[in-house]
Amino acid sequence: MSIYICNNVSDNNINKAVLLHIEHLAYRSFITIFGPKLLADLYRDWIKLDNAILIISDDDGSVNGFVLGIKNKELLFEPIKLNPFKYAKHIFKTLYKKPLLIKKLFETLSYKGKSKSTVKAELLVIVTDSNNRSKGLGTSLVNQLSREFQKNDIAEYLVTVHSDMAKSNNFYLKNKMVYTDSFILYGTKWNTYKKSTIQNDENTMG
Ligand SMILES: CC(C)(COP(=O)(O)OP(=O)(O)OC[C@H]1O[C@@H](n2cnc3c(N)ncnc32)[C@H](O)[C@@H]1OP(=O)(O)O)[C@@H](O)C(=O)NCCC(=O)NCCS
Repeated sequence: MSIYICNNVSDNNINKAVLLHIEHLAYRSFITIFGPKLLADLYRDWIKLDNAILIISDDDGSVNGFVLGIKNKELLFEPIKLNPFKYAKHIFKTLYKKPLLIKKLFETLSYKGKSKSTVKAELLVIVTDSNNRSKGLGTSLVNQLSREFQKNDIAEYLVTVHSDMAKSNNFYLKNKMVYTDSFILYGTKWNTYKKSTIQNDENTMG
């Protein structure tokens, strides 16, 4: 198994990470409704714009976990602003079938201003596959992300999670993240946690 930072936008593991994202978070997420192509385009454009840190765990050709960090969440929708036509086709195809989603789309575009925190970096997505949970992989990915943020002179970052996802909230607390605030998005309560990269420590399980 190898854990590496993916800077190569041609890497096919990006598509596998996106599928893992959809498989494990679609029931909780809005953006996944627009399909794997839109997500893969976003991942690749965030990397191209140097706004993403994507860390992938490759287990003999299959992706068994990954974490995606964003350096500046104020630039989250920059790929769509820079290339609206590329994204419009995915968005309109879905909106044509489900026009009521337009309300959620506008809510999504206001996402960056939902938490009161002024911290700009964010752990956007972390997933490990079901067979690999509770073995420390998620913690390793968080530690690697913290180190990479630190290398980029980013001292702290946020993560937001549905308040009712007890295991995930616990996972963040165990990884020394500190609760900061909550907000409502898509009619659901989300908790925000903050983590310092300065005290990054391999032994963050306790
Ligand atoms: C949240 C998630 C990424 C955690 O990944 P993980 O690989 O299970 O993480 P870890 O193994 O490091 O830690 C998880 C648990 O294992 C325990 N653990 C870690 N290393 C361990 C080890 N070597 N031996 C035994 N237990 C260990 C931790 O104490 C933790 O305890 P918990 O069961 O009380 O939560 C994973 O559950 C997941 O993908 N969930 C679905 C997607 C999701 O909710 N993502 C978060 C929102 S973006």
